[in-house]
Amino acid sequence: MRSHFSTLVLSFFFSSLLAAGCVVSAPDVPEGSDQSLIQGRKVWTTFCTSCHGPSGSGGRGPSLKEIENNYPSLSDISLIISEGRNGMPSFKEALDQEEINSVVRYIQEVL
Ligand code: HEC
Repeated sequence: MRSHFSTLVLSFFFSSLLAAGCVVSAPDVPEGSDQSLIQGRKVWTTFCTSCHGPSGSGGRGPSLKEIENNYPSLSDISLIISEGRNGMPSFKEALDQEEINSVVRYIQEVL
């Protein structure tokens, strides 16, 4: 009886964690978004979330939420992604320019 009760408590605990949004995923693109923004989210979840966090709030890499304040020019951001910098790996082998542009858009417009 007692163990049954603790299973119940535990499952309640974990489902409330889920409900509270502790298990985050990358934010969806707005409904009706074009293909490039949809692709940008795919690139983001595949290559970037492990270091920058699903919502871009940072982790091993810095937060990218206010990225446009640091780099008013989009081409500066795409240069960092393609060439890499310090702990930030270079993505020019893994991603073509179009994919890089799409993830820059996703960071800027959605995160
Ligand atoms: C292995 C971990 C790692 C991965 C994967 C990674 N980054 Fe980074 N990123 C970093 C680190 C660390 C820095 C800080 C670099 C520095 O200090 O110069 C950084 C910096 C950046 C910056 C500059 C931020 C600033 O404010 O100067 C951008 C933009 C960026 N990353 C975008 C991306 C994108 C887009 C991806 C996916 C294609 C990605 N990163 C994948 C670790 C990572």
